Amino acid sequence: MKTITCISDLRDLAKRRVPRAFFEYADSGSYAEETLRANRSDLEAIKLRQRILIDVDKRDLSTTIVGQKAALPIALAPIGLCGMQHGDGEILAAKAANEAGVPFTLSTMSVCSIEQVAEATGKPFWFQVYVIRDRAFIQDLINRAKAAKCSALVLTLDLQILGQRHRDVKNGLTVPPEIKLSNVVDIATKPRWIWSILNGRSKTFGNLAGHVKGMENVNSLAEWTASQFDPTLSWKDVAWVRKLWPGKLILKGIMDVEDAKLAAKSGADAIVVSNHGGRQLDGAASSISMLPQIADAVGKDIEIMFDGGVRSGQDIMRALALGAKSCMIGRSYVYGLGAGGQAGVAKAIDILRKELDVTMALCGVSRVSQIGPQVIVGASATDPSPVRSKPKAARTAAKSKRRA
Ligand SMILES: Cc1cc2nc3c(=O)[nH]c(=O)nc-3n(C[C@H](O)[C@H](O)[C@H](O)COP(=O)(O)O)c2cc1C
Repeated sequence: MKTITCISDLRDLAKRRVPRAFFEYADSGSYAEETLRANRSDLEAIKLRQRILIDVDKRDLSTTIVGQKAALPIALAPIGLCGMQHGDGEILAAKAANEAGVPFTLSTMSVCSIEQVAEATGKPFWFQVYVIRDRAFIQDLINRAKAAKCSALVLTLDLQILGQRHRDVKNGLTVPPEIKLSNVVDIATKPRWIWSILNGRSKTFGNLAGHVKGMENVNSLAEWTASQFDPTLSWKDVAWVRKLWPGKLILKGIMDVEDAKLAAKSGADAIVVSNHGGRQLDGAASSISMLPQIADAVGKDIEIMFDGGVRSGQDIMRALALGAKSCMIGRSYVYGLGAGGQAGVAKAIDILRKELDVTMALCGVSRVSQIGPQVIVGASATDPSPVRSKPKAARTAAKSKRRA
């Protein structure tokens, strides 16, 4: 088997080990996948500034995220159906995150329930909530997160209606998985996956089954989501959740300066600049291209997290340089999970850690708090390179810097 050295190796392995419907569920984006691609290409267009002869012998990658210590400036993003990439996927990912000293976020749409993850890990984790039509159920879910001692609540705001992923429709994605003529060969050739799923604690949406009406009869994720997600969602719902949850609150899915300003006034502790990994509004800007202007507008008022397309330590460096305090990691760890369960997630985190460490050294910084626009070509007053030839995100950062 080929040696794993980067996230794309984990992706290749996951593609071989996870049945197509679930691999493509994780891998794909909505509609024509323009935003999915832009998340990557805009990150890659940001060039890091190579510096030499600066003492970078002692490097420290640790930081705080919403006041909590983290060994690295990353948190594992909420991912629906982790437990379909690998049996007990949420528990295994949470354990790998605990061992690496970074937060893990459990999705509302997880396979293992809040209680199962709490019992199996014995450590606090973050819980992500969607406000669905049944508000009493959301209140109950928040109370369950409190009882499980979750240390932050992530409220995702960009799924008031479902953006279609063509591949999910074509693959007829169902939860629990159904063996059909069209997928029998594919599934039969994934014995590790079958074994892990058969031995997993749960095979459907752990937080919802038995709690939400209609969940038992539904045969398509898209159908259920369409019936439950709530297009009437408003800032009043954010205020309502703020009252129910006295702990750290993170608003996820902010892609606009006006929304960021409202979020900063909402009493939340942090925002995640995120377009849901290119899975919702296709045609939306990449999240990295919106980060500098959002950081410029509200960075002093609220902590800023970032996600979308982070596949390397270099990408984490870029996001931190352009105004994020930390990154959420989505597919990078999901590929690890599909490739090798807990060890695969640990590998993904380790790859990102080592890449960030080397990148910091080669850019001449020793601590995460030192990372700023000065590590990006053309983005700071100390770099005289002409700004006009720089990617948009770097130009915005440079302008913000000049204004400051
Ligand atoms: C398979 C998959 C499932 C996801 N499920 C959720 C979810 O349940 N809740 C949520 O807030 N975001 C969800 N997201 C979005 C991620 O939390 C995150 O915003 C995104 O993955 C970041 O982009 P990246 O995958 O390119 O790193 C999901 C993303 C993927 C890839």
